[in-house]
Amino acid sequence: MDTEDRGYQLIKQELFKHLNTSGQGYKDSYLIRRIRARMRKLGINDFMEYYQLIKRNKQELEDLLLTVAINVTEFFRDPIVWKTLERKVLPELIEFKKRHHDSTINVWSAACSTGQEPYSIAMMFSEFLGDQLPRFNIKILATDIDREALNTAIKGIYPREIVEKSVPKHMISKYFLPMGDHYRISPKIRGHVQFRQFNLLSDAYPRGFDMIFIRNVLIYMTKEAQEGVFRKLYDSLENHGYLILGKTETILGNAAQLFKLYDLVARIYVKNQNLPGR
Ligand SMILES: C[S@@+](CC[C@H](N)C(=O)[O-])C[C@H]1O[C@@H](n2cnc3c(N)ncnc32)[C@H](O)[C@@H]1O
Repeated sequence: MDTEDRGYQLIKQELFKHLNTSGQGYKDSYLIRRIRARMRKLGINDFMEYYQLIKRNKQELEDLLLTVAINVTEFFRDPIVWKTLERKVLPELIEFKKRHHDSTINVWSAACSTGQEPYSIAMMFSEFLGDQLPRFNIKILATDIDREALNTAIKGIYPREIVEKSVPKHMISKYFLPMGDHYRISPKIRGHVQFRQFNLLSDAYPRGFDMIFIRNVLIYMTKEAQEGVFRKLYDSLENHGYLILGKTETILGNAAQLFKLYDLVARIYVKNQNLPGR
C-alpha cells in the first residue's frame, strides 16, 4: 500500500511541514495521485527516490506544492459563482440587512491563500453597492493556515498578468494601483479585509457570519475531517447566512443534513434550521 510506504510518508511530512501541521485529516488518495503524477513526469517510480530529490532540490518541492495545488487561487475564481452571488445572494442579503436595520456585513474567507478571494469579495460588494457602500460596514475576515501565503495576501501586491488575467479592466483601474510590472490592491479594498492565521482542523471557530467562503480546501481533507469542519461552520454561520463551497465540492455524509442547497451550480448552501435535536 502506497500510504504505508516510508518514502511517501516522508514526502507527506515535507509537504505539510511548512504549514506546521502533520497532514492528518488530509486525503492520502488525493496526495498520492498528485505526487505520482509529478514522479511520472520525472520518470521516477519510487517514493523514496523522489523524497531524496525534493530534499536536495528546493525547486522540486515548490513544483510539487504547485502540482498538489494546495495554494492555487485566482481573482474571481469560477466566474459563474460570482455572477450568482451578484444576482441572487447579494440582493437578498442587502434586503435582509435593510429590513433588520443592520449595516454590518460579516464575511469569512476561510482558506484565503494569497488573498485573491477576500479581495474579490471586497470588490464585489463595492461594485454591487456603488453609492450605497458607505452605508454599510463590510468586514471580511480572511484566514489561512499558511503563513507565507498570508504574507503575500497582506502585502496585496500581485504580478500584472495575474491581475489582468481575471479582473475586468474597469475594475483594475478602480481597485488597483500600478507598480511597475505589479499591481497593488487599493487601500479602500484592503481596508475591508483583516487577515489571520487559522487552522480549520484545530482552532476555535469565530462566529456571526453572513457569508462563509470555504472553497477548494475541503477537497484535500478526509470525509471525517470535512464533517468536523461542517459542524463547526454551522455554528459560525448566522441563520440567514450563506455557505459557499468550491465548484466541485459537496457536503458528504452526516454533515449533509446541516445545510440546504441554495444553488447547485455555484455550490451555495444555506443553513438547515430544522435539525432534529437542536
Ligand atoms: C487551493 S487554496 C484555495 C484558495 C481559495 N479559497 C480559492 O478557492 O481560490 C487552499 C488553501 O487552503 C489552505 N489550507 C489547507 N489546509 C488548511 C487548514 N487545515 N486550515 C486552513 N487553511 C488550510 C491552504 O494553505 C491553501 O491556501
